[in-house]
Order: sequence, then structure tokens, then C-alpha cells
Amino acid sequence: MPQDAVPELSDYQPTLADDREAILTGLTAPQKHLAPKYFYDARGSALFDRICELPEYYPTRTELAIMRERAGDIAAAVGPRACLVEFGSGSSVKIRLLLKGLDHPAAYVPVEISRSHLLAAAGEIAREFPALEVLPVCADFTQPFELPATDEPMARVVAWFPGSTIGNFEPKEARRLLEVMRQQVGDNGGLLIGVDLQKDRGLLERAYNDAAGVTAEFNLNLLRRLNRELGANFDLRAFRHHAHYDAARGRIEMNLISLRTQQVALAGTTLSFDEGEVIVTEYSHKFTREGFAELAASAGFRVAQVWTDPAALFSVQWLEAAR
Ligand code: AVJ
Repeated sequence: MPQDAVPELSDYQPTLADDREAILTGLTAPQKHLAPKYFYDARGSALFDRICELPEYYPTRTELAIMRERAGDIAAAVGPRACLVEFGSGSSVKIRLLLKGLDHPAAYVPVEISRSHLLAAAGEIAREFPALEVLPVCADFTQPFELPATDEPMARVVAWFPGSTIGNFEPKEARRLLEVMRQQVGDNGGLLIGVDLQKDRGLLERAYNDAAGVTAEFNLNLLRRLNRELGANFDLRAFRHHAHYDAARGRIEMNLISLRTQQVALAGTTLSFDEGEVIVTEYSHKFTREGFAELAASAGFRVAQVWTDPAALFSVQWLEAAR
């Protein structure tokens, strides 16, 4: 296979330095917080891949099982010659399954914030599916970006947003993001989306507090990244990982907790932490079917189909542009 299997990268990869202001604002707010998109440097992306394999982390394997089980239904909904745009493609495991099931997909546009992950995965997909036009975009998909032009004739644009990454966003932002997707796919388009469902607290909390400590490593890697890319001096042993389910808001909240009173230098500022003070690093919202349908409707989508596993832990939903 030629080296130029993936012809061109649309590269908008942000660095932490680009986001210095936003990071400082978050870390000096009354409730310190950092956006979860910063987890995904090369090391963080590799740690996330390990999370997906953990026995406690049910979302990945459950979503894959639903997709395997419903490949025929999904292909029928999406139809032939679709241009698939994947938001947050990571290492693109699920897309293989999807592409294999679909009727002559025309193009695949993986959009991913981690350039190393994106290029490796896009190259592999291009080799595995020689008839498919692969057009990678390295971007923060929460910011506007342009879809690359395709050579192949296509029937429609279909967005693919797996893993319940939609859960990372607070309701207003989630709505805004779905609106952007609705615009990108157009009146004829669709959105295939993985949506994690509300359930028993124990199962949820175990999924974000795994026994092997991989999620803790993933969370602490944020501080490692701030040290490396913004010259901060966080002592990684002076913070600990914590995750709990807020049932009233239907969301897992991940924290880094300061183990002592301490000061940390970051980008010319000194951050002060009390003992026990928390940095909120991630929300992972869990939905009811009704709640998600309302959110989708508020962004101009109609939920056309919902597929779940037998225990209703997770769902894959097919949304069409509402008329
Ligand atoms: C990729 C955002 C869907 O919320 O479950 C996994 C990230 N964080 N373990 C999630 C994550 C901790 C994951 N998403």
C-alpha cells in the first residue's frame, strides 16, 4: 500500500498553549475545573484505550455488542453511499464494524484532537478499506471546522458520535454541539450516536473507579500534561483521583483532590489549594430515553430508532433531521 494512502490532513490540532487562557480561567474559578478534552494527549489517549478494555468499564463493550447485533438495522437506516463523519475518532475500533456493515460507504472523515492517534488510525482504515475515501481532520470538534471536500459521489452525510462522549457536555453545550452536527449533516443527513443510560449507582461508580487504577492514571495525566506543556509544577503524588455519581443530575463527576494545602505555579500564576480542595475534570452525563429525545429535539433532530442491550445499560440511537 502506498505511503500516500491518506492524502491530506486537515490540521487544526490545538496545543495547551493555545488554550492557556481558558485553562487559567478554569483553575482560578471558585470551583476549579478543567475541560475533559485536555485528557487526550498521546499518553491520555493510550490510557483511554486501556480504560475501554477494563472489566468494570461496560460502555465500550456494550456499545460494540449492540452494533454487532444491529448491524443490519443500522445499515438500513444509514443507507448506501454515506459520507461518515466521526466525532472523536480515537483509535477507530468501532468504525471498522460500522464500515463493514454499511452499503458502499463513500467517504470517512475522522475528526480527532490527538494527531498521533488520528494519523495512525486513518492510515489503517485507508489500507483496510481501499475503496473508501479517508479524509482525516485533526481538530477540537467543539470548535467550528470545515468538512473536507470529497471526490466520491455521496448520498448523504451521517455523523457518528460513539461512546456517549455527548455525556461530557452540560445540557446547554450538548445542545449546541448537536446543533452544529445538525448543520453539518444538513436536511438530508443523520446522526448515529452512542448514549449511556441512567442506572444503578454501584455499577456506574465502579466503571469510573477501576480496581487496576487506570482511570486514576488517566485523570492524573492531566496534571502531568500541564507540567509538560505549560511548565506547571504539580506534584502528582499530592492529588488523588475520585469519581462519584450525582443521581439528581444524572452524571458521574470526576475530581482530582488536593491531599494537602499547597501552591502550584502555572503559566506565571500561583494556584492555591486547600487540603481536600477539588478540581472537577469531567462530567459524564447518563440519560433517560425521554431526556435524550428532548435534547435531540431541541437541536433539530428526531429520534428515529433506539437500540439497546438486553440489560438496557447503553443505547445506540439513530437521529434524523426533524422536518
Ligand atoms: C469518552 C467521555 C465517553 O465519560 O465514560 C472514561 C471518558 N472518563 N473513564 C466517559 C472516561 C473516565 C468517557 N467518554
